[in-house]
Amino acid sequence: MKILGIESSCDDTAAAVVTDDKTILSNVVYSQELTHKLYGGVVPEIAARAHIDKISDVVQHALSRANCSVDDIDLIAATAGPGLIGGLIVGTSFAKAMAVSLNKPYIPINHLEGHALTARLTNNVEYPYLLFLLSGGHCQSMIVRGYGDYSVIGRTLDDAIGESFDKAAKMLGLPTPGGPFIEKAALSGDPKKFKFSAPMLGRNDFSFSGLKTAVRIQVEKIHTLSKQDISDLSASFQQSICDVILDKLKQLLKDKRFIDVKQLVLGGGVGANAAIRSSLQKACNEREISLIAPPAKFCTDNAAMIAWAAVERATNGFAEDLEFCPNPNWQIV
Ligand code: KG4
Ligand code: ZN
Repeated sequence: MKILGIESSCDDTAAAVVTDDKTILSNVVYSQELTHKLYGGVVPEIAARAHIDKISDVVQHALSRANCSVDDIDLIAATAGPGLIGGLIVGTSFAKAMAVSLNKPYIPINHLEGHALTARLTNNVEYPYLLFLLSGGHCQSMIVRGYGDYSVIGRTLDDAIGESFDKAAKMLGLPTPGGPFIEKAALSGDPKKFKFSAPMLGRNDFSFSGLKTAVRIQVEKIHTLSKQDISDLSASFQQSICDVILDKLKQLLKDKRFIDVKQLVLGGGVGANAAIRSSLQKACNEREISLIAPPAKFCTDNAAMIAWAAVERATNGFAEDLEFCPNPNWQIV
């Protein structure tokens, strides 16, 4: 079976063709980064218009890279939430229109489920696993015992983790989205230069607003930031984030409810961060837990994860659903 996935929940217009035996035939992502750069963040209305401009080209590109035509597609899936409503309407309307005109089934997909199941596509992971879902809009630890069998263990009480990277980057005068720029600047910085405490230690929940304030106070103190200051602040901020995540892992592994689970999976854009991946790898090695981190380009938003989630959804008895309205707040648990 060949599945066409479409993703348009934020600022990436993406389409991919994936088979039900886990071959990614194409994976096209058009980033609106340059469009939003001027505004220092994603502007929802501009994002929706940019999705309208690009979606047809991106889908055609995904089909041609996969060396197939629309007739070869067996199932069409699109992100129907959570996300920015304008983009969701563009992606789901496009997918539904294709499905109706071609007489193919359409399945709406939850974006978070896409991130949560990516490693099953890219790394062939079996259930069950612990999951850190670390993205621009979400930050939660979960236990994934099977398709649809998800429980949230800890969640952020304020900012999402990617949001905290983006806000810290803005304070440091780095471009958006901030995560990759902080990671790059941190390479030439001293992670011990500034002591930012890791918030909410010893708890399952996350909180990042205090860390953001700590960076702001330090930036105001220095006033005119040198290149080295930016690198040191980035490295120290990233170190605090790593400390927080390692602490959450420690809490999870202490919990008797998950004693049988020996796999930890990363999902979401922040999962692309090499410093976070390597500190988690070290901690997992020490505790004989396997860390499964999908390739960076499948941690950040993509449509292959949407196509794959449709495979799992269809396999688990969810029929096509043309009536489903895009839902900006759609939760998986
Ligand atoms: O999953 P994602 O692509 O979109 C959402 O579902 O939100 O995540 C985007 C977030 C942004 O906040 C971005 O700054 C962050 O992921 N991000 C990173 C890295 N790459 C993307 N954060 C830290 N290090 C990275 N290398
Ligand atoms: Zn995402």
